[in-house]
Amino acid sequence: MEKISLDTRHTSVLLHELVDSINISPDKQNVIVDGTLWMAGHALHIIAKLHPGDIFIWFDADIRNLELAKQRIEEHLVWEKVTITPEETVQVSAKHINIFLIHANFWTLRSALTSRWIHHITGIYYDLGLSSLHVDEAERGFSFRADGPLDMRFDTRQKLSAKDIVNHYSESELSEIFWKYGEESQSKKIAQAIIHTRKKNPIRTTKELSEILDSVHPHTKIKARIFQALRIEVNGELSMLEQSLQDAVELLKTWGIIYVISFHSLEDRIVKQFFKQESRDCICDDLICSCHHKKQLQIISKKPILPSTEETKQNPRSRSAKARHAKKC
Ligand SMILES: C[S@@+](CC[C@H](N)C(=O)[O-])C[C@H]1O[C@@H](n2cnc3c(N)ncnc32)[C@H](O)[C@@H]1O
Repeated sequence: MEKISLDTRHTSVLLHELVDSINISPDKQNVIVDGTLWMAGHALHIIAKLHPGDIFIWFDADIRNLELAKQRIEEHLVWEKVTITPEETVQVSAKHINIFLIHANFWTLRSALTSRWIHHITGIYYDLGLSSLHVDEAERGFSFRADGPLDMRFDTRQKLSAKDIVNHYSESELSEIFWKYGEESQSKKIAQAIIHTRKKNPIRTTKELSEILDSVHPHTKIKARIFQALRIEVNGELSMLEQSLQDAVELLKTWGIIYVISFHSLEDRIVKQFFKQESRDCICDDLICSCHHKKQLQIISKKPILPSTEETKQNPRSRSAKARHAKKC
C-alpha cells in the first residue's frame, strides 16, 4: 500500500468516517465514484484500499480543480507509468487501477459512465459544495470578502453567471431565489434594492453587490445568505444533486454504498428526503401493488454523522458538515 502524506492546507471533512464506510470487496471488481474530487483528499485514501483491476471514477465540474488534483496525485502516488487517453483515462499502472478523470457535473453521472461502458458501480460518495480555493480566489466571484467579478460558476464552460442573474432576473425571481436558497427574510427588500441600482448602472462586481446589501442591512450573515443563494442558482446545485442521487442509486449494485456530505440544510434536506423515499416499503393496501414503488435503499445512518469536537477544533470549516449514508438493497 502506498504511503500517503496529506501535507496541504486543504483538510478533508469526515475523512475517516467516509473512507471506512465505503465497502471494498477483496475478491470482486470494485467500481467507485468520487462525485466531487477537488484535492482528492478522500480519493487518495480510497485508492489505498483498492485492488488491481478496480475502477475509480473522479468527477469535478471545475477543470482547474481536476488538474490540481491530478498533480497532487502524481506527487503522492508512485506512478510507474501514466497513460492518458483522449478520454482522460489515467491508468495507475503501479497498482493497475483504472482511474477516469471526468470534467463534468455529477449531474451527468449516468451518461458519463455508460458512454465509458460502465453500467454498475459498487460505491459512490459526494463531498458537496465549493473548495477553499474557490473562496480564496477573488476572480472566481464566490466571496463577498474580496472584490471580483460576479461569476460563481464551478464550470466556466457554462454561460449563466451570477452577473446575469443579478442584472437580468425580475424582482420576483430574485426575491424567490434569495428566500428559497438563502432563507433570507429580507429577500424582497434586497431584490428591490438590486432593481433600483441596476436601472442606473449594471452590477458587475462582488463589491458592488455587497454595497447594495449593506444599504439594506449591513450584516455579514445577510451577505453570506445572498451569496449562497446566487451560487446555488448559478450552478443549479439542488436540482442537479437530486438527479444525480437518483441515477447513482439505479447504477449501484446490491450492497453498494452511497455517502453524502453536505454543508447546508437545503442540501441535507434533499439527501434526507431522498433516502427516506427510497428506503420505504410499498404502502399499497391492494394485494397487487399499484404504486410501483420499489424499496431501493437501506439507511445506515438514521441520524446524520457529524464531525467530532476534535475535528471541528482543527478544521472550523467542518462545523456545518453533516453526512448520511445508505446501502442498496
Ligand atoms: C468540498 S470540495 C471536495 C473536496 C474533496 N472531497 C477532498 O477531500 O479533497 C467540492 C468539489 O466539488 C466540485 N463540485 C461542486 N459541485 C459539483 C457538481 N455538481 N459536479 C461536479 N463537481 C462539483 C467543486 O468544484 C469542488 O472542487
